[in-house]
Amino acid sequence: MQVLSVASECFPLVKTGGLADVVGALPGALAAEGIAVRTLIPGYPTVLRALSGAEPAHRFEDLFGGPATLLAAQAAGLDLLILDAPHLYDRPGGPYSDAGGRDWPDNPQRFAALSWAAAEIGRGAMPGWVPAVVHSHDWQAGLAPAYLHFAGTPRPGTVITVHNLAFQGWAPAHLLPELRLPADSFTIDGVEFYGGIGTLKAGLRLADRITTVSPTYAREIQRPEDGQGLDGLLRSRAADLSGILNGIDESAWNPAADPHIAAPYAAPEGREPNRAALRAGIGLDDDPAAPVIGVVSRLTGQKGMDLLLAALPALLGHGMQLAVLGAGEPGLEAAFREAASSHPGRVAVRLGYDESLAHRIQAGCDALLVPSRFEPCGLTQLCALRYGALPVVARVGGLADTVIDANEAALAAGVATGLQFAPTTAPALESALARLAALWRDRDAWRATQHNAMRAAVGWAASARRYARLYREVTSPRE
Ligand code: ADP
Ligand code: GLC
Repeated sequence: MQVLSVASECFPLVKTGGLADVVGALPGALAAEGIAVRTLIPGYPTVLRALSGAEPAHRFEDLFGGPATLLAAQAAGLDLLILDAPHLYDRPGGPYSDAGGRDWPDNPQRFAALSWAAAEIGRGAMPGWVPAVVHSHDWQAGLAPAYLHFAGTPRPGTVITVHNLAFQGWAPAHLLPELRLPADSFTIDGVEFYGGIGTLKAGLRLADRITTVSPTYAREIQRPEDGQGLDGLLRSRAADLSGILNGIDESAWNPAADPHIAAPYAAPEGREPNRAALRAGIGLDDDPAAPVIGVVSRLTGQKGMDLLLAALPALLGHGMQLAVLGAGEPGLEAAFREAASSHPGRVAVRLGYDESLAHRIQAGCDALLVPSRFEPCGLTQLCALRYGALPVVARVGGLADTVIDANEAALAAGVATGLQFAPTTAPALESALARLAALWRDRDAWRATQHNAMRAAVGWAASARRYARLYREVTSPRE
């Protein structure tokens, strides 16, 4: 079966978060299920520079204000279709914003164009390759199911995956004709959302199936308090909504053969040189009795980073050290910088994006903290499990589904892999740190928990089977 995956990011070509990791890793896992995926992404300058031997596969004479070319290319084991549309994507800055962090004002057009190209491929624009399913990721590809729905049959099956309901891609109503949406699409059962065009909403309303990236998040987003205004729609589509857990790329995240780390290891007993190297490299005191708490995260309210700052005195009071790698909200960046300068040798902070340091933190820290207010799935706790760093996570979304709390029952049964806490507040985080300190003192229990963590299933095999089943469902004959 042939599937077109459509997204705004794809690791290793362009990444701002876990979306890219998933879009980059899933095709390889689906190949084992007999699914041939081609991945459509925008031709940002960084993407075009990384390609060699790209071949034109289709031309759009006018794609939302200029000509565009679909380029077929292979890179990083992926079968790619790159939408080269210089008027939309050939500019400095990030995928969504300029170098100053301001969203591009034409984002509605930029990602409607991506969705339009996906729908055209779905309708046979490239006669040699017609997908049976168009699989959209997040709001940037949310209009693809809408374009396919309003173009009528025959059409491929459509699936949309929500990686984060907080980002919805709303556009003002007057853009309707410019975004090539028919007038009759502007209804509550179409693309209309709070008086404008909801690109994620359109996908959620009109795709054949909706998935999100964990079973718990699939339930949470049907509640008013977590549904970001879309819970009613999601409840009405509950029969078509499922949660399929993310995995991680087990070859990129393999502590036994990781080129980024000081001393590759296959068991927790081999971690020590990596901890020493992390301490020396990032500037933490050489204090072997102190557990190193790691953070690899966007520095945002979603990720609970303000709560970590509030709980910092408690963390240091337990004799722990903190190593943070992250980038995000300027106020949080400044506060972490300040924490590092107030506690030299105990708190180390690196602001920015550093793939290699992310690996060194996973290999060198004793516990990885993920205190999210909400978390569709989360990937860093999966990497932590694989690397034998105990994840300490808020009991929300995919964090709740992937970490087994080291309570008495789990310890006695020998299945604990980390710690969970709830609610996501500073006092609850402080209690979790106190429990972590107690576990740290019980060396046998700590070691056993590390072994369980490293054995946990964090790959894609089971989830790839679920996506494959879903693709088969949406391609079985429709009315
Ligand atoms: P989200 O997508 O919400 O940011 P995830 O946990 O799903 O959260 O994915 C985050 C991904 O980005 C992981 O692969 C993580 O290692 C990586 N990451 C986050 N921040 C950084 C950073 N500052 N430097 C390097 N990698 C980072
Ligand atoms: C989003 C979510 C994160 C998830 C990732 C990949 O960025 O915030 O929880 O793991 O997408 O699905």
